[in-house]
Amino acid sequence: PKEREALKARIRRLLRERDAVMVSHYYVHPDLQDLAEETGGLVSDSLEMARFGRDHAARTLVVSGVRFMGETAKILSPEKRVLMPDLDATCSLDLGCPADEFDRFCAQHPDRTVVVYANTSAAVKARADWLVTSSCALDVVRALNAQGQKILWAPDRHLGDYIRRETGADMVSWGGACIVHDEFKALELELLKQQHPAARVLVHPEAPADVIALADAVGSTSAILSAAQRMDASEFIVATDSGMLHKLRTLNPGKTFIEAPTAGNSATCKSCAHCPWMAMNGLAGLAQVLETGAGEVHVDPALGLRARVPIDRMLAFTA
Ligand code: 13P
Ligand code: SF4
Repeated sequence: PKEREALKARIRRLLRERDAVMVSHYYVHPDLQDLAEETGGLVSDSLEMARFGRDHAARTLVVSGVRFMGETAKILSPEKRVLMPDLDATCSLDLGCPADEFDRFCAQHPDRTVVVYANTSAAVKARADWLVTSSCALDVVRALNAQGQKILWAPDRHLGDYIRRETGADMVSWGGACIVHDEFKALELELLKQQHPAARVLVHPEAPADVIALADAVGSTSAILSAAQRMDASEFIVATDSGMLHKLRTLNPGKTFIEAPTAGNSATCKSCAHCPWMAMNGLAGLAQVLETGAGEVHVDPALGLRARVPIDRMLAFTA
């Protein structure tokens, strides 16, 4: 704990000296969430992280999360320095959607509007008409569908299927998945619900359809947080990354949050769901990149300009 406090003090000092602000995702270690808030930064979902980074006056953004979040920040603020505690923190959705293969997929469907999830590389974003995160995907596709547009969706198949079910839109989808959310199991969740009959179920839409079918609320990390605050229940089962529990518990001290099961017997499932790439973010790495300037995110400027078009469209749509 003494070492931890010393690291935090060093980070606070470096943030001031480097004119830097922290932008953290809800899935990173609680230390990085709390420190962001204490120092005038933000902890939020991927949509609001992008907006905050774009709008903040600091010359350096320190993004704790995964690679695509740092890249989005850089694309929106090419003049700022964007640092990440660990540049190897990627995402299975990004890894599973290589730009060249995606380009061929798009070429097979030239009549479709290309809607791409934020969890992708800059090169995949550059091929998109629209970028979305889970907090606006449904509304964007609903609006496009109302205009009669047919959709090409990538890369998360569960989120894509969920949107298709909700909107009835004509969609072809890439087959990617999040390795964390793909593991939630409906059968075990039903058993857990039987043990906690009054509990409400909160589900991120990257989870499989049979898990979503058991949800009382489905949405992005921010939507899950607001549902927990809004709903009149004292117990919740949460089907998203366990990093989310920190904010859920600190903002709702009177409520109980139980992790949804990923496999096996729910009674033995303690902390089954945590993104290995989110877990690469830590205080020591953060202090080091602030000290040395290592861990800087670079995006090719020409590519960044193209990728910015669908991101700006999303930010204007949700403004
Ligand atoms: P949110 O946009 O809901 O924060 O989700 C990002 C993510 O990576 C979910 O796994
Ligand atoms: Fe990607 Fe899943 Fe990790 Fe989110 S939780 S960053 S979607 S692998």
